[in-house]
Amino acid sequence: MRDFFPGLAGIPAAKSSISFVDGEKGILEYRGVRIEDLAEHSSFLETTFLLLRNRLPTQLELENFTRDISHHRRIKYRIIDLLKSLPEHGHPMDALQAAVAALGMFYPAQEVLNEDTRYLTAVRLIAKLPTIVAAFARLRRGDEVIQPRDDLSYADNFLYMLTKRVPDPSLAKIFDVCLILHAEHTMNASTFSGMVTASTLADPYTVISSAIGTLKGPLHGGANEAVIHMLEEINSLDHIPMYLDHKLTNKEKVMGFGHRIYKVKDPRAIVMQGFAQQLDAHRETQSLFTLARAVEAHMESRVGPKGIRPNVDFYSGIIYHRMGIETDLFTPIFAMARVAGWLAHCFEQYQENHLFRPDQIYEGPHHRPYEPIETREPHSQ
Ligand code: CMC
Repeated sequence: MRDFFPGLAGIPAAKSSISFVDGEKGILEYRGVRIEDLAEHSSFLETTFLLLRNRLPTQLELENFTRDISHHRRIKYRIIDLLKSLPEHGHPMDALQAAVAALGMFYPAQEVLNEDTRYLTAVRLIAKLPTIVAAFARLRRGDEVIQPRDDLSYADNFLYMLTKRVPDPSLAKIFDVCLILHAEHTMNASTFSGMVTASTLADPYTVISSAIGTLKGPLHGGANEAVIHMLEEINSLDHIPMYLDHKLTNKEKVMGFGHRIYKVKDPRAIVMQGFAQQLDAHRETQSLFTLARAVEAHMESRVGPKGIRPNVDFYSGIIYHRMGIETDLFTPIFAMARVAGWLAHCFEQYQENHLFRPDQIYEGPHHRPYEPIETREPHSQ
């Protein structure tokens, strides 16, 4: 019997210099820079440049990169037509995945080792994802699509395309930091999925659409959405012990808690908790944040010593909810940020490519006779 590692837990699948996690100490670095420093001093686009180029940009490089992103924000009317043709009750992650796959048909990018093609493809993806997310969000409400504005920052422009209002600068700043915190996270499920696709030398649009599909699940990026549903279901501080104890006794997962790598509180959750608290400051009624704090306290007493603590998805949804963003847009917003990390891994994969083709341990039968259809017995499920 060969060794078998379910979920490939603990098995290195690549060498990488993009990001680093210490799950015991709660450290996350992008290209060696602590995320707390990036959250305090950087912007999402500067962090994206760091992830893609392995260094912080000069003033001029950042201006050029920002200008290139602004110039590529528009999406073709045929992509808007595609979004219009999708069911309005469908999940926006599916709309995003379909639109990103379709982008690849408009902008062929098969020369995966060509520097110029790669740069332009990265710029297009980073620039257009927010436009797609905002366009689908408005179309399904029956509202007209709002064209991006070149004069607005990345965060301002997204919130403007969603709401038709330029946001308060403090809200835009918090939103931008949330994007920084979601931009990259080593070898996670969606990144691996993208890398498997990249290893076939498929183009980056195909790679990113694979990663978007993987991010959607509730065990991964979909958890931020599930956290809000859970807090709304709990609804009152009094219900917390019964609700959580029931879940834990039945071995059900509590969304927004636990991580394959972190055994302490996720450092991203610590920064986001601060923002969620800041946004909650003037609330008088029992808020989602108050409920979340009480959920965290109860979870700590029950499973904290097992290393099950809040992850990035626990407080991010509360921040977006407080900003008035619809719950099912939280994971697409995660994707808008994570595209930076996915692209960095995609390009790293192209550079040192080795096709991913793992093995399996076969457990099925051999030498099974082919039975004619007339003699086959009906089977119950
Ligand atoms: N609630 C209750 N119990 C949990 C949780 C949780 N959220 N997470 C892990 N456990 C328990 C699990 O029941 C098991 O217990 P036991 O040893 O008694 O059987 C033990 O911890 C190990 O669980 P596991 O599922 O084998 O561990 P894993 O490393 O595969 O889990 C995880 C990682 C993220 C899939 C899991 O913690 C989980 O499902 N969490 C809830 C979903 C979630 O919040 N996902 C977001 C992850 S972070 C951001 C991202 O990737 O997008």
